[in-house]
Amino acid sequence: MEKIVVNGGNKLHGSVKISGAKNAAVAIIPAVVLSDGVCRIENIPNIQDVNLIAEILHKMGAKISRINKTTLEIDPRGIREPVAAYDLVRHMRASSYLMGALLGKFLRAEVALPGGCDFGVRPVDQHLKGFGILGATHNVEGGMIKIKADRLVGNHIYLDVVSVGATVNVMLAAVKAEGRTTIENAAKEPHIVDLANFLNSMGADVRGAGTDVIKINGVKSLRGTTYSIIPDQIEAGTYMAAVACAGGNVLIENVIPKHLESITAKLREMGVKIEEYDDSVRVIREGRLRRCNVKTMPHPGFPTDMQPQIAAILATADGTSIVNEAVWDNRFKYVEELRRMGAVISVDGKLAVIEGVDHLEGAPVKATDLRAGAAMIIAALGAKGTTRIEDIRHIERGYEDVVEKFASIGADIKRVYTNDGATRTA
Ligand code: EPZ
Repeated sequence: MEKIVVNGGNKLHGSVKISGAKNAAVAIIPAVVLSDGVCRIENIPNIQDVNLIAEILHKMGAKISRINKTTLEIDPRGIREPVAAYDLVRHMRASSYLMGALLGKFLRAEVALPGGCDFGVRPVDQHLKGFGILGATHNVEGGMIKIKADRLVGNHIYLDVVSVGATVNVMLAAVKAEGRTTIENAAKEPHIVDLANFLNSMGADVRGAGTDVIKINGVKSLRGTTYSIIPDQIEAGTYMAAVACAGGNVLIENVIPKHLESITAKLREMGVKIEEYDDSVRVIREGRLRRCNVKTMPHPGFPTDMQPQIAAILATADGTSIVNEAVWDNRFKYVEELRRMGAVISVDGKLAVIEGVDHLEGAPVKATDLRAGAAMIIAALGAKGTTRIEDIRHIERGYEDVVEKFASIGADIKRVYTNDGATRTA
């Protein structure tokens, strides 16, 4: 079994480069299906979620060439059957984007119902509502969602909830529909804007991405393109949180500071010093941090994908903090693991009350999901003693070279393999 082992107490120094955005990559790669030519995608993070999406396209008949660690060339013209492999799709939420991409290209899609997640139900009712308004019908058979349409006709779609996935999927279904589609109450995350820019680089006509009203004029065909993915604002925020928790002075490079605004503001409120440059931020933390309250919201609010990481910092801040998880129903599973390290946190539904303690103690913990796993590393860096983190597959699927990057800024961290008691370091 693989574990990540951290000996806490080191202050972090030096610089770390941020990779391409996972949540942009897992939307843009399925969008390649809509193209009638070859697409070259650059600055792709080399992580499992992205490689899985590419594997699904390959299994469907697309030609995938890896140019280098972060660049793929994808030729979707070999895809004949708009059916995504059940065994691969069911393990990853983002594969639901294949519904919109295949429907938009073939007027038909068969994709496994996306699996649940470690923090509550992951519904797709808004995705299906959008497809229906464009003229598609669907049914669920053998765990597969089967969607089809004689034609896709542009229409007015008002999303009941601000949903990243529904906004992505409706965009993908609408770019080749006949006429104009308006998406109201759309998600505004940086990866929504990145997807719109990618689609427009293929010849689509998408306007208003980044606001809550996106207007799409359908086009007949989309050409191949070359596109570079934006940096990952959640990966950047995770490294910023690590410096806030462990202390030190680190330059975080290859970021778009504007995408980090809500994270920067919250860390500054806690007493972290942050210097913003064109494509980097310097994070400096000396002395104990102050308590604060956090409420997660759709962008540009404080991102839910940074909620476990900020809680890990607040566990040793001076005073009592309240974290309100307003996006997901049950995203506090990691609290049990922080308690093993001595955190004093009580959870009631969507609220966590965190009483700051002087320090945490290393302990054996689990990564309950991707961002919870990142929070365990952050807590361990600032803790006294050794922390062993299990189930690190969750972390590795979304953070490129996570052990190597933390080690490069001075963390005492390594990946170890334990097999019937024998342990060896990776
Ligand atoms: C995306 O998930 C991200 N995943 C999540 O990041 C992120 O937490 C989430 O957006 C919110 O920002 C990817 O981009 C691959 P939603 P998604 O649809 O699209 C409800 C990570 O760590 N909802 O915006 O599944 C839903 O229950 C991952 O990188 C419906 O009710 O999230 C939730 O309460 C974890 N009906 C809220 O909307 C629907 O049809 C937001 O969900 C869809 C969603």
